[in-house]
Amino acid sequence: MNMNPDIKSLNQEPPKKEPERQYYFIEKCRRYVNSESIRLGRTLNAAVVNFGCQMNARDSEKLAGILEKAGFNLTENEDADFVIFNTCTVRDNANQRVYGRLGHLNSLKKKNPAMKIALCGCMMQENSVVEKIKKSYSFVDLIFGTHNIYKFAELLANMFESGSMVIDIWEDTDQIVEDLPVERKYPFKSGINIMFGCNNFCSYCIVPYVRGRERSRNPEDIIREIESLVADGVVEVMLLGQNVNSYGKNLENPISFAQLLRKIDKIEGLKRIRFMTSHPKDLSDELIQVMKESKKICRHLHLPLQSGSTRILNAMNRRYTKEQYLALAEKIRREIPDIAITTDIIVGFPGEEIADLDETIDVVKKVKYDNAFTFIYSKRTGTPAAAMEQVPEHVVKEGFDRLLKVVQDTARQQAFLLKGKTLEALVEDVNEQDASFLTGRLSNNTIVHFKGDKGLIGKIVPVYLKECCGFYYLGEIRQGI
Ligand code: SAH
Ligand code: SF4
Ligand code: F3S
Repeated sequence: MNMNPDIKSLNQEPPKKEPERQYYFIEKCRRYVNSESIRLGRTLNAAVVNFGCQMNARDSEKLAGILEKAGFNLTENEDADFVIFNTCTVRDNANQRVYGRLGHLNSLKKKNPAMKIALCGCMMQENSVVEKIKKSYSFVDLIFGTHNIYKFAELLANMFESGSMVIDIWEDTDQIVEDLPVERKYPFKSGINIMFGCNNFCSYCIVPYVRGRERSRNPEDIIREIESLVADGVVEVMLLGQNVNSYGKNLENPISFAQLLRKIDKIEGLKRIRFMTSHPKDLSDELIQVMKESKKICRHLHLPLQSGSTRILNAMNRRYTKEQYLALAEKIRREIPDIAITTDIIVGFPGEEIADLDETIDVVKKVKYDNAFTFIYSKRTGTPAAAMEQVPEHVVKEGFDRLLKVVQDTARQQAFLLKGKTLEALVEDVNEQDASFLTGRLSNNTIVHFKGDKGLIGKIVPVYLKECCGFYYLGEIRQGI
């Protein structure tokens, strides 16, 4: 791994090969940042703001890693010299938040003319968005998309050199560039991309259009990355992909997700393994077996349902029926009794009727989800569902409230089952409300708050689950289980 190539002279042509090329541009950016810093008589601040899912959050850590190497001081404050919004477009409200926050950045830029503003991520893969920004948000300095994020250093250098808006959006890519710098948010846990893109084309979903076709990383690269993270203090990893169950199918030497998990399970020093997301249609018996045998794989499975109606599932192009989903959930609960199952549900998909929502509620009651994210269907331009007949807003709202109530009742009942147990929690943070408390996460993803010293952050401790407060617990540290 060549993390710090010796760049003798920036007058030389930039290397053609990656990641060496990007290290060349990081050095180039460093010199700009340095001279600007001297000119202004202070260090330059940079903020990376994330709007999306865990995959976006991981990308943001890569952006932060490059900015840090380029000499910026990282801050969470948007009143900075460089601000980058890593955007999401899965639902329209994600887009609206970006436009709202951009207005605020414009006012900050008027006060600090040296400020540079960049936009990247899923939203930028949509032509209409880029057109709108060019027209109405011309104060933005740099725009790029999801496929060329590895070129961030190069684009940043172009931005410093150019006097006008730099735009670089790719339609797709088959490239995966390894070994670029990353600045992790937590020292003890980390997301790891195992694959990029999605081939499923669920009819409501924009992700395949903005993230491109499915590409898996080589298992050797994944293992090597996790080993180096463990050496750096990481005890928990979250393996990330839109559909981890189809991992490895298209590699030169195909390997299943379950086989990858077996390899990761062997990494010494690694204590916990999580993953998301699992598409129900591809969840194998082999995966259930590996989860059952492993002491490190967490007792949590996120298994998006989307709808409990076979008719709607069919229109959604999910490729499973209500009965198949129920049978799968039942098998998982039977094989791994202490597992928590969580899900995503969409309400108001085109053509959804009251009877369809009743089917969804029926599944929620039968599976007894430990938690569920419920979303109101959002029409995404270019997806097949956008051309279907939409459900009136008030019908959607009523259905949503009805579902939410069942989801919350079920989740509360599930949480209550843990009362009185003593389970291991990874200490993640000092409690936000009361600094004498710590916040930890159980293997099954339940949150527990308990008294303790902040020196325990990053450690796994046994916690007695004393009081169930709806979805989370108040507990006490116990010595030895
Ligand atoms: N790859 C994951 C989901 C990624 S998007 C999977 O297949 O499960 C996360 C969630 O957003 C989805 O599970 C879905 O519930 C929701 N979602 C996606 N597109 C949506 C849309 N157009 N409107 C509302 N919710 C949507
Ligand atoms: Fe979207 Fe479906 Fe792919 Fe998930 S599996 S990202 S919901 S298309
Ligand atoms: Fe959003 Fe892109 Fe993730 S659209 S949900 S940030 S893959």
